[in-house]
Amino acid sequence: MGAIVRGIGTYYPDNILTNSDLEKMVETTDEWITTRTGIKQRHILPKDSNLKASDFGVAAALKAMAQAGIAADEIDGIICGNINPDKQFPATACFIQAKLGAKHAFAFDITAACAGFVYGANMAALLIDSGQCRNVLVIGAEIISPVLDWTDRNSCILFGDAAGAVVFGVGPKERGVLLSQLKSDGTQSEILYLAGSVGSDSNRSMYMDGKQVFKSAVTVITDIVRSTLQKAGYTTQDLDLLVMHQANVRILSAIADKLGLPPEKMVVNVERFGNTSSASIPLALADAHAQGRLKPGMLVALAAVGGGMSWGCNVMRW
Ligand code: UT7
Repeated sequence: MGAIVRGIGTYYPDNILTNSDLEKMVETTDEWITTRTGIKQRHILPKDSNLKASDFGVAAALKAMAQAGIAADEIDGIICGNINPDKQFPATACFIQAKLGAKHAFAFDITAACAGFVYGANMAALLIDSGQCRNVLVIGAEIISPVLDWTDRNSCILFGDAAGAVVFGVGPKERGVLLSQLKSDGTQSEILYLAGSVGSDSNRSMYMDGKQVFKSAVTVITDIVRSTLQKAGYTTQDLDLLVMHQANVRILSAIADKLGLPPEKMVVNVERFGNTSSASIPLALADAHAQGRLKPGMLVALAAVGGGMSWGCNVMRW
């Protein structure tokens, strides 16, 4: 059976942090951030808010479920990617399950950082194809701002808080996720990580070697998109839309150039949200859907890379 997208939902806080706001916080300029990253603003959870990653996930999931036309008790599985979970354990997905009242669903988290959504989409496709599940919610729920070093201009300008959710459901074999590939390289774990224990907010902030992440990202994503398409029996020319993790517009452009993809085959919304880790692909899918850029029959690839390093690609027939 094919695992097709039945609904997409997003959530992000109203509070916006612009590049001009950041100029007052660290030594940077709107011009530097715009030209080096493409980011103009990001949504940030206000410091006095009590919302958790699971609350973000629930808000996005409810919209995805409404679009899919399914009730909570029709969900068989909930998979949540995040880098700053509600608690060390149980999984944030379990809190989401409880808040949704999805009493028939199993729930677990994926720790694949920014690649969480493509890992989750792969799992959902396997669960549906095997007949074990009919509806699987894949969620990226990210509250990143509390774990940023707000004195490090190299990293704090990049990230935003948001959630995105997709309901994968049963469809015809020739549609939905056709093939996925996942990869990891733990020897690169030192270039992007968040140390310290969950639940303690002392001295916990993300470390990032931006230059190294940039270089790795361009190489591994270019390779995995090409090879996943090839294994599925296609070339990059056959691709109608590439929906990538939104980290930096220069990474997106470099990959588009290497793959020979024109701008109309790329989805870019990093200027509005910054890097929202595992939420970024569903946020990009939601925009593409709202703009009428996802049409039945299109060949679509999702691709992401993040800390681990972990990366992956899902090739889909929409
Ligand atoms: O989801 C995966 C997570 N992370 C990423 O995808 C990040 C990938 N990396 C990047 O996006 C880019 O490497 C950055 C945006 C982080 C940095 O851009 P870059 O073009 O690689 O800049 P750079 O690190 O080579 O730094 C160039 C200069 C340096 O100054 P000097 O040494 O040339 O004097 C930096 O200190 O820019 C300086 N710089 C800044 N200047 C103004 C670094 N950050 C800033 C800043 N404002 N915010």
